[in-house]
Amino acid sequence: MSEVLVEYPLPEVGLIRIHRPEARNALNQAVREQLAAHFTTLGNDPQVRCLVLTGGEKFFVAGADIRAMAEAGAIDILLRQSHRLWQALAACPKPVIAAVNGYAWGGGCELAMHADIIVAGESASFSQPEVKLGIMPGAGGTQRLTRAVGKFQAMKMVLTGQPVSAREALAMGLASEVVADAQVLPRAVELAGQIAALPPLAVMQIKEVLLAGQDAPLETALLLERKAFQLLFASQDQKEGMQAFLDKRKPVFKGR
Ligand code: CAA
Repeated sequence: MSEVLVEYPLPEVGLIRIHRPEARNALNQAVREQLAAHFTTLGNDPQVRCLVLTGGEKFFVAGADIRAMAEAGAIDILLRQSHRLWQALAACPKPVIAAVNGYAWGGGCELAMHADIIVAGESASFSQPEVKLGIMPGAGGTQRLTRAVGKFQAMKMVLTGQPVSAREALAMGLASEVVADAQVLPRAVELAGQIAALPPLAVMQIKEVLLAGQDAPLETALLLERKAFQLLFASQDQKEGMQAFLDKRKPVFKGR
């Protein structure tokens, strides 16, 4: 039975739901492979303009599957090539909104950080507890976290393994917004619907440039931004968006 399900709460929004409750949605290889496959498929589907990623109402993901790692050797871990599966998520050209209820720990926190927007429930918690297991984060927990929250908050999280609450995560920049637990998925879908209604070429360029620019020198990042900005003037949607404004009517975007 599949542990990662795809639904369409709106015609242009793909919802990816991890469902492995008996292990608190822990990421084993099968779950990682299914996630990678769904991200690739939805990322390529022209009908889908925004993705929502959730673990359900009680827990997001409690980390990598410890049972699947406990007896593994270094070469076993190397041969799993998990980074290739994570890469499929990182390469998704469409915006991804993580809807986080409950634990986003270890690989779950790293999974949430692959998203572009994080909507967290009041009771959600975020943690990089790997140090307590004698390992360290291996899917971006020392890097994406530091880029999101800065050195001192990241160090505190990865060196102590202590969780932070949704409110703390919001204050430090690890969440985009915090809502009542029951509102997490509806709010994430609402945001996804808003983004899905916007011109998809502009949305895609914004995501690509923001992420690529983060790791480039400022001058290079500004150049990337400028080139993408110029490129968008070749799109029909730019003509439509500006003409609709001048005509005082609602634009109809086609992704062209
Ligand atoms: N891997 C495998 N199984 C897990 C798991 C995990 N990460 N997290 C929970 N489970 C399993 C438990 O073993 C348990 O299974 P059984 O019923 O068969 O015993 C079941 O899920 C329920 O777990 P709990 O009884 O512990 O549930 P809880 O609600 O009391 O506690 C929790 C939840 C606080 C998240 C706790 O389960 C926990 O601490 N989990 C481990 C968290 C962790 O250390 N994550 C980091 C993993 S390493 C990693 O992520 C590395 C990486 O990215 C590269």
